[in-house]
Amino acid sequence: MSKVTVFGAGNVGATCAHVLAQRDIADVCLVDIVEGMPQGKALDIRQAGPLQDFGHEVTGSNDYAACKDSDVVVVTAGLARKPGMDRMELLQKNTSIVAGIAKAIRDNAPNAVIVMVTNPLDVMTYVAWKVSGFPRERVVGMAGVLDAARFRAFIAMELKASVVDVSAMVMGGHGDTMVPLPRFSTVNGVPITELMDAAAVTRLSDRTRKGGGEIVNLLKTGSAFYAPGTSAAVMAEAILKDRRHILPCSCWLQGEYGQNDVYCGVPAVLGKGGMQKIVQLALNDGEKAMLQKSADDVRKGQAEVAPFLG
Ligand code: NAI
Ligand code: 2OP
Repeated sequence: MSKVTVFGAGNVGATCAHVLAQRDIADVCLVDIVEGMPQGKALDIRQAGPLQDFGHEVTGSNDYAACKDSDVVVVTAGLARKPGMDRMELLQKNTSIVAGIAKAIRDNAPNAVIVMVTNPLDVMTYVAWKVSGFPRERVVGMAGVLDAARFRAFIAMELKASVVDVSAMVMGGHGDTMVPLPRFSTVNGVPITELMDAAAVTRLSDRTRKGGGEIVNLLKTGSAFYAPGTSAAVMAEAILKDRRHILPCSCWLQGEYGQNDVYCGVPAVLGKGGMQKIVQLALNDGEKAMLQKSADDVRKGQAEVAPFLG
C-alpha cells in the first residue's frame, strides 16, 4: 500500500490531502503541531469518502514519526509573517520548521521523495535537501506546476479555449522573477505567440508572475490554496504512479541551463524515485538572461539561510 504524508494541515496541506484522497491512490497522513486539528481534518476527509467514492485510509497526527515508511512526503508546514516580524525572522523560523521536519523524514521515511511547498519555495527546498541528506532526485519543490496552471488558466480565459488544450511552461524561482515561456506554451501544439499579439502575451505573463499576490489581495487574509494543494497532489501522484510527466519543478541544478548549486524551476520528468531527468529546452538569449536573474535571486536566499543550518 502506498503512503503519502502531508506536513502542515493548514489550507494547502488539507487541500492536498483531500485531492490525494479523491484520487484513491494511497493512504494519506496529515501531520500538524496543532492538537486535534490534523485528526479532525483527516476524519472529515474520510467521511467524504462514501460520497466521493474513495476508500484509502486518511489519518491525522501531531507526531512527526507518523510519516514512517511514506513513499512521498509533501511539506506545507510554516508560519505566515505576523505583525512586527521582519523577513529574516520569518526566514529563520520557517528554516527551523522545515529542518525539523526534514530530520524526521530522514529518520522515519528514508526512501521517501520530498515535495516541498513551504515558502520561500526554492530556498526551503534547499533546506530540506541539505538537512535530509537525500539525493537531489528525491527532493523537489512545487511551484512551476502551480505557476504553469495559472498561465494555462489565463491563456484559456483570453482565447476562450478549452483549458485541457492549453499547456504552458514557467521556469525559474517562485517569485517576481519567475520566467513564463510563451514560446513553449501552446494551444493544441500551436505556440501562443501565434495566437495573440505581443501585448497580450506580455500581459498574461505578468499576471502569471503576480498570480499569488493577486489572490492574496482578494482574500485579504491568507494565500491561495486550491490550486497550490492540487499542484502538490499532482506531483505526488506522478511520483507514486511513475507517470513520467514533464512538469516544471524546483530542482538542484548541477550544470543544467548553465546553473550550478541552486534550486530553481526547470522542466523535469517526474516519476518513480522523484526527478528522473531534467529536460533541456533551447532558450534564447532573453530567456536565458531572465533565468539567470531568477536563479541569482534564489542563490541570495540560500546564502541567507546558510547560517541557520549550522
Ligand atoms: P496555513 O497557515 O493554512 O498552514 C500552515 C500549517 O503549518 C498550519 O496548520 C500550522 O499549524 C502548520 N505548522 C506550523 N509549524 C509547524 C510545525 N513545526 N510542524 C508541523 N506543522 C506546522 O498556510 P497555507 O496557506 O497552507 O500555506 C502553507 C505554506 O505553503 C506557506 O509557507 C505558503 O506560503 C506556502 N505556499 C506555497 C506555494 C507554492 O507555490 N510553493 C503556494 C501556496 C502556498
Ligand atoms: C502563491 O503563489 C503564496 O506562493 C503562494 O499563491
